[in-house]
Amino acid sequence: MASSLYDRLGGLDAIKAVVDDFVALCAADDRINQKFARTDIPRLKKMLVDQLCEATGGPCTYIGRDMKETHRGLGVTAGEFDALVANLVATLNKFNVPQAEQEELLGALAPMKADIVEVDSAATATPLPASYQAAPPLP
Ligand code: HEM
Repeated sequence: MASSLYDRLGGLDAIKAVVDDFVALCAADDRINQKFARTDIPRLKKMLVDQLCEATGGPCTYIGRDMKETHRGLGVTAGEFDALVANLVATLNKFNVPQAEQEELLGALAPMKADIVEVDSAATATPLPASYQAAPPLP
């Protein structure tokens, strides 16, 4: 049996390292970082680790909000979505994740785009709507 994408990526430690690097790139990226101005970053990192672990066949359970609810009212554009994915690819390249595994991971995330993008525009650096309610920190 072929091993899971989770195992081929290197398991939980590798996924945590990828998420740390990816979140740092997004935080430094003026095309998208305004959206995270009120976000609890420790929560975001934990949710991303659990989501990636579960989606790749690892032993985690994602307990966060679903993608539609999480991103509703953020006003994310298609251009901002592409910018975020480019940051993820930069991180995967930095960690020498092979092309096949990259494609498999991006393929697992691609169907989420429809639930995340609200504005069909190539614009980036659009503001965080004042009405957006950020999730509370984890206990
Ligand atoms: C495939 C792409 C994406 C995935 C898999 C993803 C996944 C997630 C996850 C798991 C959370 C945490 C949910 C929770 O805390 O309950 C989250 C939160 C968030 N995402 Fe995304 N996301 C994606 C794309 C984007 C894009 C393109 C943007 C904006 C540029 C964005 C902005 C945010 C923000 C601001 C939060 C924090 C919301 C808060 O403060 O409560 N996401 N995302």
